[in-house]
Amino acid sequence: MRKACPGVLLRYHVEHERVRSGVAANMLVHITKDFEELSREAARVVANAIRKKHDLRLGLATGSTQLGLYQELVRMHRQEQLDLARVVTFNLDEYIGLPSGHPQSFRSVMFRDFFDHINIPRENIHLPDGTPRNDYEQYCGEYEEEIRSAGGIDLQVLGLGKDGHIGFNEPTSSLASRTRPKTLTRQTVEDNRRFFGANEEPPHAAITMGIGTILEARRVLLLASGAAKARAVALAVEGPVTASVSASALQMHRNATALVDREAAANLLHREYYERALEMTRKLTPGRLW
Ligand code: GLP
Repeated sequence: MRKACPGVLLRYHVEHERVRSGVAANMLVHITKDFEELSREAARVVANAIRKKHDLRLGLATGSTQLGLYQELVRMHRQEQLDLARVVTFNLDEYIGLPSGHPQSFRSVMFRDFFDHINIPRENIHLPDGTPRNDYEQYCGEYEEEIRSAGGIDLQVLGLGKDGHIGFNEPTSSLASRTRPKTLTRQTVEDNRRFFGANEEPPHAAITMGIGTILEARRVLLLASGAAKARAVALAVEGPVTASVSASALQMHRNATALVDREAAANLLHREYYERALEMTRKLTPGRLW
């Protein structure tokens, strides 16, 4: 496994990208009217990416925010011949310790809500396996290796936890972290309780791609919807880069877009600027918008 302190890794990342793409661009912020518009726009970005690169390496997230995106992609597959036959997917995370086939495992949710309705071949689908084990380091290293040997992730879709986490990178996760098991915060356990039965304790741990893993994706699309995410969105986009808000690390990414609805954008200070910046990007560098 690669080891580096966060500062070194981030400096390497910024320098590396400056060499590769000329500039390290800022995070684009796209504010939509509501969840429906957000879902349509997210699907447009993903579908365009697939049309441009049929064997897109697509990083996926699980959560209610992604549901509209997945529904829209399924609709495009059925009605607009969106072909996903060569797409390869890598999911961000999975709970540790749920019995296999549990309806709330991220594997079950992803198949039920997305994979069962489109034409990505099963062998192209990768999700971390949350079976308890005593060789996490080796297992997580192999997941990283699968991503690397597939050529890296072209587009990573992310949701946002109320505490500002991406994947399950809870506050204080190293900004250089790689795929590993992670203890969930009380807030996250409580947020997830709604998906579990009244007498069922939600999982307290998960396997998640690290922040370092996520930062290596060529493009990142962060989705957030609703007033409950407004604080986390403001911290992620306008706060300091800090391990206390893992999504803030995306400020170091060269091609990250935060796609948020009006409610989730409510605490952002520079909303008017983001709208103008998006307009200007459409004119100057439309390729960034796919
Ligand atoms: C979990 C997942 C995240 C997701 C977050 C928000 O913590 N690990 O990937 O972004 O939930 O979920 P929701 O979209 O349901 O609010």
